[in-house]
Amino acid sequence: MIRKVKGTRDILPPETQLWNEVECTALRIFGGFGYSEIRMPLLEPTELFVRTVGEGTDIVSKEMYTFTDRKGRSLTLRPEGTAGVARAFIENGLGQRPQPMRLSYHGPMFRYERMQRGRYRQFSQIGIEILGAANPAADVEVIVALHTFLAELGFDDLIIVLNNLGDPEDRERFITGLKTELTPHRGELCGDCQRRWDENPLRILDCKVPRCRELVAETTPVADVVSEDARHHVATVEAGLEAVSIPVRRAPRLVRGLDYYLRTVFEVISPELGEDTVICGGGRYDRLISDLGGAAVPGVGFAIGEDRLVDVLPQSFKDRVFDQRVVVVLPVGDAATAPATALARELVLAGVTVHTEVTGRSLKAGLKWSGKMAASAAVILGESELADGVAVIRDLDRGEQETVALVDVVSHVVELLQIQR
Ligand code: HAM
Repeated sequence: MIRKVKGTRDILPPETQLWNEVECTALRIFGGFGYSEIRMPLLEPTELFVRTVGEGTDIVSKEMYTFTDRKGRSLTLRPEGTAGVARAFIENGLGQRPQPMRLSYHGPMFRYERMQRGRYRQFSQIGIEILGAANPAADVEVIVALHTFLAELGFDDLIIVLNNLGDPEDRERFITGLKTELTPHRGELCGDCQRRWDENPLRILDCKVPRCRELVAETTPVADVVSEDARHHVATVEAGLEAVSIPVRRAPRLVRGLDYYLRTVFEVISPELGEDTVICGGGRYDRLISDLGGAAVPGVGFAIGEDRLVDVLPQSFKDRVFDQRVVVVLPVGDAATAPATALARELVLAGVTVHTEVTGRSLKAGLKWSGKMAASAAVILGESELADGVAVIRDLDRGEQETVALVDVVSHVVELLQIQR
C-alpha cells in the first residue's frame, strides 16, 4: 500500500464540510470588510522567502521544501502567504489601483516541521492583508475582522495577545541590549540559540527550550526600547480595540517567527491547544514591499492556521454544519431508473441533498441503506406507483408514509424537511 507523505493529511467527509463552511464564512466576513480574494501560486522562487521571511528564521533555515527544477532554478513550495502577496502586489502593479488594497487568501502552505498535534508539513492558512495603510486604524481593522470571524464561528474563549516590536532601527538597539543581558549566561543557551546568537538573535525569544525561556524571561522586553512613534502607534491600536470592546492582552516576549514584522505583532491562542500551537499570527510589515524592490507600501495582516482552527471548532458550529438533512431516492425495477434520475435532479435544484440508489438494491435493502445514511426521508419509485403517476414518500424519522402525485413530490419533500426541523 502506498501511504501519504509524512506530515500531510487526508481530510475526509464529513469533516470537509467543516472546512468548507469555515472557508465560506471567511470569504463572507472578510469580503464584508472589503477584502477580495487573491490566488497565488504554490511555487515561488526560493529567493522570495529568503529575502522576506528571513535567512536566519527557522522557516527558511530548516523548514522549506526547496528543490531545483529542470532548468536549474531554485523553487520553494510556499511556507506562508504574505511574501507571495507582496510579490504579486509589485508584479501586477496593484499599487496603481485605489489604495489601500485589501486582499484575502486561503490554501495550502508547506513547512518541514516535526510532527505533533496541530503541526503538519502541509497545512492550510486563511489570511488577509491590507496594503497601503500606515495608520494604526488599519491594524485595528484587521484585528476587528479577525475577531468578527472567530465570533461568527462561535468562539468565545480565544485570547488575542499583542506586542510592540518597534521599528528595525529600534530592533538593533534591542538586540544589543539583549545580548549584553544574556552574555553571562550564553553557555547555558541551547545549540540552536548558540547559532541564533550571531545569525538572528531575535529568534532566541522564540525558543521553546525551558532554560532559554527562563533566561529570556529575565531580559528587558522589546516594547521598553522602542521609539516614541512606534510606542504611540501600538498604544493607538490598543486604544482602538478597547473602544470596540475587543480584549487584547500584552505579551512582552512575543516576537513572531518571521523577520518582516515591525511595530504591531499579534497571535491568537486557544486554551485547548496552548501557547505553542497558536491559531493565528499576524502583524505589521511596512518595509516588506520596498525590501522586495517595490514602492514604500506599508502593510498589516494575519494568517489563521485552518487545521488548528478546525480542530477546536465550537460544538455549536459543528452541530449547525452537520445538521444537514438527506433524502434518498429509491427506484425499484429498471423502469424506475430514469424517473428517479429526473426526480433527483429536481430535488437538488430545490435545495435538497439527495442520495439516489444506483446499485440495484431491492426495496428492503434500499430502506436499510437509507437508515445507514441517516436519511430523513425516502422517495420510493416502484413500477406500479409510476404506472399510477405517483410516488411513496416515507418519513424515516416518524416511520409514516404517504402516496403523492409525482408532480407534487418535490414540494412535499421540501415541506417534510421543514417540519422535521
Ligand atoms: P505564521 O505564524 O508563521 O505567520 O503562521 C500563521 C499560522 O499558520 C500559525 O499561527 C499557525 O496557526 C499556522 N501554522 C503555521 N505552521 C503550521 C504547521 N506546521 N501546521 C499547522 N499550522 C501551522 C505567517 O505565516 C504570516 N504570513 C502571517 C501574516 C500574514 N502576517 C502578516 N500577514
